[in-house]
Amino acid sequence: MKTLNENQTKLLNAAYNKFGNTASKRELQDFATDMGQPYPHFMIHRDYRIKRNVYDLNAQILPLSKSKKVVEPTKVISLSMDSGGFKENLIPEVDPLYVPFGNAKMIRDVIKSKMFYPLYITGLSGNGKTFGVEQACAQSKREVIRVNFTVETDEDDLIGGFRLVNGETKFFKGPVIKAMELGAVLLCDEIDLANPAKVMCLQPILEGKGYFIKKTGEYVRPAAGFTVVATANTKGKGSEDGRFIGTNVMNEAFLERFPITVEQSYPSPSVEKNILQKVFTNLDIKDSEFLDKLVDWADIIRKTFYDGGVDEIISTRRLVHIAKAYSIFNDRMQSIQMCINRFDDDTKASFSDLYTKIDAGVVVEDVTENSSEGKVIHPYKG
Ligand SMILES: Nc1ncnc2c1ncn2[C@@H]1O[C@H](COP(=O)(O)OP(=O)(O)OP(=O)(O)O)[C@@H](O)[C@H]1O
Ligand SMILES: [Mg+2]
Repeated sequence: MKTLNENQTKLLNAAYNKFGNTASKRELQDFATDMGQPYPHFMIHRDYRIKRNVYDLNAQILPLSKSKKVVEPTKVISLSMDSGGFKENLIPEVDPLYVPFGNAKMIRDVIKSKMFYPLYITGLSGNGKTFGVEQACAQSKREVIRVNFTVETDEDDLIGGFRLVNGETKFFKGPVIKAMELGAVLLCDEIDLANPAKVMCLQPILEGKGYFIKKTGEYVRPAAGFTVVATANTKGKGSEDGRFIGTNVMNEAFLERFPITVEQSYPSPSVEKNILQKVFTNLDIKDSEFLDKLVDWADIIRKTFYDGGVDEIISTRRLVHIAKAYSIFNDRMQSIQMCINRFDDDTKASFSDLYTKIDAGVVVEDVTENSSEGKVIHPYKG
């Protein structure tokens, strides 16, 4: 088979998507004209003539997919062609552990309004950005499609692409198109990890306009209710201090398309105590003294971090990790130790020292003078 150029390949795929296995000469001719392409000689070739005026598209598309050397296609069994797999209920469940704070009401109001009004939520890790958006959707009973961005995320992942299903090449719509069609909230999670050049396809979508899917020739208009919420650790200018490795400098024009940037900070100690209280109750932990001390400890660490005194921070997420460790080990210091092990030795030492200053019940003793480990932490006994 003659090698097709890019336009011809797209046209063939699009024709196949529209007409299925066969199409008439007239249909193919008109279709090419509609797509702004020249007369499609390659499709209307005698090798593919089934009967008078009818041409086989299937036979043309199959060798194509083989020539692309598709390695072991993933078996897709129950995906519907249109949906690309989004069949489940897309309204998240209301989580009883969620505690709204800060800009939560504003975010919920925007989502509830069903207006197209993209939000960019930025803030340090583990302070409830993603959780907050999901819960705002749950509370306003709005469907949400979450896409987690990586440096590899591209148009094919977002808009859709051709997949081999049971030996046939079919176009599957991606999450962005699906959210547009459903009028759902598109949650672009950790968008600053994306390679800006690869996600430029989002540009017209962030303007609330329709999107022309080049691969199929289809024009998709956003249904009422469609909007975009992005979350990120940075404001799209990269991470100078290197805390957020992998974040990229986003395109200015891209950022400009978000009318509102929400800066989300960690919850205040009183809110964080409410959050942890729910987690403790859920885990059946009855130690409100530990709860208070944990929150105070995190608060002091955060203040020290903002003053430049330490390089790391304790997030709300980490406090939840510690609560879970405590429900298993029933040991204050061990739970803290285990959950701060991810930090470097100096940070670990200063975080645990700090905790011992807050909680006189835990004892830290040096047992080996020259040991680099240096310290044995005695479990809290109380
Ligand atoms: N408002 C809240 N109410 C209850 N729990 C919360 C709240 N905020 C954060 N948490 C806890 O912290 C965890 C982390 O939240 P989330 O994943 O939303 O953080 P994030 O800000 O998106 O972090 P990252 O920037 O790393 O993606 C949640 O799973 C939850 O346990
Ligand atoms: Mg997140």
